[in-house]
Amino acid sequence: MEPATEVKRKEEIRFAGRVNRISVSPTMAVMQEAERFKGRGADVVDFGPGEPDFPTPDHIKRAAVKALEENRTKYTATPGIAPLRQAICDWHAAQLGSSYTPAECIVNVGGKHAVFNAIASLVESGDEVIIPAPYWVSYPDIVKYADGNPVYVETHEKNEFRPTAEQIEKAITPRTRVVIINSPTNPTGAVIPKDQFAAILEVCRKHGVWLLSDECYSHFVYSDARPFSIASLPGAKERVIIAGSFSKTFAMTGWRLGYTLGPAPLIGAVTKLQSQSTSNPTSIAQYAALEAMLGPMDSVRVMLAEYARRRERILAGLRAIPGITCTAPQGAFYVFPNVSAHMAKEMPDDTAIVRQLLEREHVAVVPGEAFGAPGHLRISYATSIERIEEGLRRLSRFFGQRSERGLPAAAGRQVQTLEPPK
Ligand SMILES: Cc1ncc(COP(=O)(O)O)c(C=O)c1O
Repeated sequence: MEPATEVKRKEEIRFAGRVNRISVSPTMAVMQEAERFKGRGADVVDFGPGEPDFPTPDHIKRAAVKALEENRTKYTATPGIAPLRQAICDWHAAQLGSSYTPAECIVNVGGKHAVFNAIASLVESGDEVIIPAPYWVSYPDIVKYADGNPVYVETHEKNEFRPTAEQIEKAITPRTRVVIINSPTNPTGAVIPKDQFAAILEVCRKHGVWLLSDECYSHFVYSDARPFSIASLPGAKERVIIAGSFSKTFAMTGWRLGYTLGPAPLIGAVTKLQSQSTSNPTSIAQYAALEAMLGPMDSVRVMLAEYARRRERILAGLRAIPGITCTAPQGAFYVFPNVSAHMAKEMPDDTAIVRQLLEREHVAVVPGEAFGAPGHLRISYATSIERIEEGLRRLSRFFGQRSERGLPAAAGRQVQTLEPPK
C-alpha cells in the first residue's frame, strides 16, 4: 500500500473559485524572468520594478529602531495606533486639503490592501466596478476575487490617457457599485485635471456610486501639476474612499503600510474585515509611518527632483527612436511608449517584444497587455540615470535595427515637445 502522503500528493488539489478567478501579478512575472537572467550573470537593465530605488529616509528608519528598542512589538488596535490615525488625517489635511477624523481612517498593510478591503467590503456577486484602462494590474483581479465584474473604460494616447466624466457615465449601469480612479496613474503617468476629476465625482454622486481614489503617487507630479485629492472638494467625502500608501511617497515599499480614508461606517466594515484577516499592520512599521507623517518632507522633494530629471531624459531618448511615440507622463515614475509600429510577424505583440528585448538586449520592461493596453510597454524610471542611459542605448539598438529593416521610421521622427498640447 502506498503511504498516505503519497496518495495525498497524487490527489488533485481543488481550489476555491475565488482563487481560480485571479492570476499572479504580471509585473511580478516579469521581475521573476529578469531575476532568472540576472542569476545567470546577465547585466540586466531593469525597467520593471514599480518601486523607488531610494532607501527609506533615515529619520523614518530611526523611528522604527526606537520602537523596537522600546519593545513596541505587541498587537496594536486593528485599525492602527491612535496617534498614527490622527497623524494621517492631519497630514492629509495639510498636504491635500481634506478634513478626516480618526474614525474615518484605518491603517492597512499597504495601499493594495486598502483597495482590496474597500472592494471586498462593498462589492457583491455580479456588481460592476468601473476601471479606466490602462489600469494598475491588481484592480481587475481584486474585483474578480470579490466576485464582481470589472468594466473597462478605455483611454487613449491622444487624450493623454485621461478618462472623462462622459465616458464614466456611459459605462454606469444599475449594477455599478464603484469607480476606481488612480491619478497619477500607473502605468501611464496620466494626471486627471481637477475639473475633470470633479466632473467624475459629480457623475458618481448622481448615480449613487462610490469613487475609490487611489492616491499612491499623489506626491510625484511634474511641471505645473500639484498634489491633489478629490476628498478636498466640498461635499466629496460622503461618496469618496481614499486609498493611500507609504510605499512610494516615503520609499517604504517593503514596510507594507497604507491607509484608507472614508465615511466612518465604511471604515467600521473594513476594520471588521481586517480584524479577521491581517489584524493590525506591523507595530514597529506603524511607528516608522508616524515619523513619516510628522517629520520633514525633504526626502520627498529630493526624490521628486531626481524623478523629474530622469523623466526628461527617458522621454527624450524614447522619442528619438523611430516608430515609438510616447505621451509625457505628468506624474508617477513610468513612461508608457506605444511600440505598435514595431509589431511584426516575428514579434506580433508587446509580450513578444518584451521577451525578445530581455533575451537579446537584457532590458526588462512590462508589456502593455498586462495593463489592458496592448501595443505599449511600461518602463519604470525609478532607476539611476546611468542605467537609463544604458537602457536607452540598448532600446535604440533593438528598435533601430528593426526600423532599418523596413519599419515606417518616419512615424517616430515627428517632432514632439516634452509638454503635452494644452
Ligand atoms: C496604482 C497603485 N496603487 C497601489 C499600489 C500598492 O502599493 P502598496 O501596496 O505597496 O502600498 C501600487 C503599487 O505599485 C500602485 O502602482
